Amino acid sequence: MAEVRQTVIELLGQLGSNREARQYLKQFARIEESRFAVVKVGGAVLRDDLEEMAAALAFLHRLGLTPIVLHGAGPQLDEAMAEAGVPIEKHDGLRVTTEAVMAVARPVIYKANAAIVDALEARGVRARGIQHGVFNAHLADPEKLGLVGEIDSVELDPVRSAVRSGSLPVVACLGESSGGQVMNINADIAARELVWAVRPHKIIFLTGTGGLLDQNGRIISAISISGDYEQLIAQDWVHSGMQLKLAQIKDMLERLPSETSVSITSAAKLTRELFTHTGAGTLIRKGERIDWLTEIGSEQWQSLERLLEASFGRELEPGWRQGRDVAGLLLAESGRAAALIVNGAGGMPYLDKFVVTPEARGEGLGAALWQVMRARFPRIYWRARASNPIAGWYLQQAHASFRRGEWIVHVIGTEDFDQLAVLVNDARSRTSGWQGE
Ligand code: ARG
Repeated sequence: MAEVRQTVIELLGQLGSNREARQYLKQFARIEESRFAVVKVGGAVLRDDLEEMAAALAFLHRLGLTPIVLHGAGPQLDEAMAEAGVPIEKHDGLRVTTEAVMAVARPVIYKANAAIVDALEARGVRARGIQHGVFNAHLADPEKLGLVGEIDSVELDPVRSAVRSGSLPVVACLGESSGGQVMNINADIAARELVWAVRPHKIIFLTGTGGLLDQNGRIISAISISGDYEQLIAQDWVHSGMQLKLAQIKDMLERLPSETSVSITSAAKLTRELFTHTGAGTLIRKGERIDWLTEIGSEQWQSLERLLEASFGRELEPGWRQGRDVAGLLLAESGRAAALIVNGAGGMPYLDKFVVTPEARGEGLGAALWQVMRARFPRIYWRARASNPIAGWYLQQAHASFRRGEWIVHVIGTEDFDQLAVLVNDARSRTSGWQGE
């Protein structure tokens, strides 16, 4: 097993680095087996990407991870209904499920369930189809919605028993009343209830697009609910479907511990999303608090120093803090990101250190910290080496940038030439605090 693991780590390392892959594998393996991940598979993925999805899930299983699969069958059902000549009717996004609809839906859902199980087993992975016995429900509104169920409770025994026996549980979105009445359950609602019951480390939505898209059709890499949500849903390009999805995810995360994250990705990109820092898809987290500390205790100084040294891979001078007129420290709750602000030339705030661990960067914590800093400091300046990996990003953020040898000095919030000259000279002449400089 150790040998297989090593090979796999090397393979995964080709996506990012060996260290990254190992770190995530360790992180995921630490979690109780049935709480690694809930994977919601959309109907479009079943139709277009079934094999790719089975390959990605089989791969996870070979690594010793057991995701719980939940699937809908929306598009398949639409198709079958059209074929059967049964009209499609929806109420607030819920499928009105008359007996005629249920007669078409049940076999379609069973078929989708079996297709996933078959595709997994064809890859040598044991899988168990669970069509019933998980969602206890009652009729939500029989007059309006027919056989649509509202979930009362979630029974995890069938899921846990599958996991215990080494099978991937594949759960369908059907519920039953205590009297045995089968009901149709909306897949997003089922996913939410299942997630609340399981409390997994990761929640994964496999979709055709592989993430949430911005106004240019590019995938948004990371969203923090506390930092980005309000602003995001107010954008006119965020259509109602995406708004709903974000609201549902926010709702879902609110009841879960802060380390839980949602990844929206595609079957083909799932492995990369899980085993690299930058991922491939959209990562959504509750986000963490970022505090502004004007009084920095010795513990906080130490944690900042550790963070700086680990992230930059070099050592600080023992007395690096001396002579720095510190204004305050922006520090993320988890201690994985910080910005040290000092009083610069003419009292203008100078960004002395900006540091984010690579892992936290993938979560969007760097962007969140930057946002908080910008909100607090409408005027600020800093310097960075031209060779800095995020030099290009700094150029985008700054209003004005000046190259002086290996340094680039960036300024936000002033256009006064005399002041700019002072700031550039000041920034250039500062000491970095790193050993050997
Ligand atoms: N591999 C990590 C995870 O799955 C980080 C993924 C980052 N993904 C992203 N789209 N920014 O938790």
